[in-house]
Amino acid sequence: MTTDSTRQAALAMDAATFRTLGHQLVDQVADCLAAVPRGPVTRAEAPSAVRAALDLTGSLPESGTEPARLLAETTKLLFEHSLFNGHPRFFGYITSSPAPIGMLGDLLASALNPNCGSFILAPAATEIESQTVRWIAELIGYPADGGGLLVSGGNMANMVCFLAAQRAGGAGEAGRAGGALRVYASVETHTWIQKAADLSGIGSDGIRWIPTDAQLRMDVAALRRQLDTDRAAGDVPSLVVGTAGSVSTGAVDPLREIATVCREHGVWFHVDGAYGGFAAAVPEAPDDLRALSEADSVAVDPHKWLYAPLEAGCALVRDAEKLRAAFSYHPPYYHFDERATNYVDYGPQNSRGFRALKVWLALKQVGAAGYRKMIADDIHLSRAMADAVSRHPELELVTQDLSITTFRYVPRDLPQSLQGEERERQIDAINRELLDRLQRGGEVFVSNAVIRGRYVLRACIVNFHTTLTDVEALPGIVARVGRDVGAVKVAD
Ligand SMILES: Cc1ncc(COP(=O)(O)O)c(C=O)c1O
Repeated sequence: MTTDSTRQAALAMDAATFRTLGHQLVDQVADCLAAVPRGPVTRAEAPSAVRAALDLTGSLPESGTEPARLLAETTKLLFEHSLFNGHPRFFGYITSSPAPIGMLGDLLASALNPNCGSFILAPAATEIESQTVRWIAELIGYPADGGGLLVSGGNMANMVCFLAAQRAGGAGEAGRAGGALRVYASVETHTWIQKAADLSGIGSDGIRWIPTDAQLRMDVAALRRQLDTDRAAGDVPSLVVGTAGSVSTGAVDPLREIATVCREHGVWFHVDGAYGGFAAAVPEAPDDLRALSEADSVAVDPHKWLYAPLEAGCALVRDAEKLRAAFSYHPPYYHFDERATNYVDYGPQNSRGFRALKVWLALKQVGAAGYRKMIADDIHLSRAMADAVSRHPELELVTQDLSITTFRYVPRDLPQSLQGEERERQIDAINRELLDRLQRGGEVFVSNAVIRGRYVLRACIVNFHTTLTDVEALPGIVARVGRDVGAVKVAD
């Protein structure tokens, strides 16, 4: 119990100590970051090895640790036992290299610790978030006078839009008509839609999976047929999802045509641009991307192609009132000025961190031109990778779209007797094992996709550290490791 006017809280730190520890931490992190390209992408240790190295099995200590040593040791251990998505040869999933100004922005955001649920608690932060949302809309060619907010990532951004759509149309109509709500998305749509359908109460059985064409884009004629069939059966279409850059191959749905179908049917048109949305800013990208401007809502992910450190997603809705209709309640214990923006009214979160700062700082640091150049460079590097893959005699290029290249290793010495489906299954098995070895090896990190039933390797570049040397090195590494895998499998 404090008995006088000075309190010595265990967590408090005087300014001189904070300054010293902060400088030491920044020095150490700067050295570690500079060393990342020279080391492996990952050490791929087993969970038990990581627990042992970081001494993570003990119970909660009763007494504390000296903070300078604590920070220095933790930093060292984290850099020794992590995977680096900022490594120039990290091409897995869709996780970007983090912008250094975003790292510093996170420190600044935590120092202020504004609660961005309401303006009164976060005046400057709220206005910075509003400008960030407008700038994001501007960058991708979406109306900047609509609604939107930052959320944790692509899943949440899509879910926020999904719930706004449901509240705006389908839900009421379904109630009156007694029909079942339906949502429409291509079979290549990311798995967020199943979670959204479940959380919204529609249920994943309410998803109408629309087939794709040869380029893995939504078959719009099939969408029309499904809408007509469902309407005739008394069901209520709630929204159609177009994907602007699919998770597996980067395919962009025919967004212009889908927009037309949605207008004809009076259905909410949502675009999942979590991965590819920002490419709408660059001339290199498919023209269809630009039609995201016609959508009722768009999800984009600054922690993908704006290179924001995790986490940062963004939901954009043409009409801000649609967000308020879905999320605004006025409990008696809040007294917020209705003339200001209170983000608690626009999304599912109550207390909210200052995610916008890291995104805003990066946008301001390099401007729209800086982003257009980095995104275009990633796309060009992916095309160069596809060229290098197609020139390699042991690799087979499968797709190249936006900044994703898919391919597989095909051993040259497969027995002649192995033909048809049996041969394909053997190549799948080799590539599955090859992926495992590549991910454990640490030389280069790729992930996988299943395309038209076949298992393929997948390299995605949302990484401003990657160079032409890195992408041209990939085929040689994959083929070398592939030969080892193939030799064992073919002999099996
Ligand atoms: C097209 C698409 N939508 C949604 C998501 C989910 O985004 P997040 O992982 O940020 O939640 C992803 C992730 O890769 C994606 O590629």
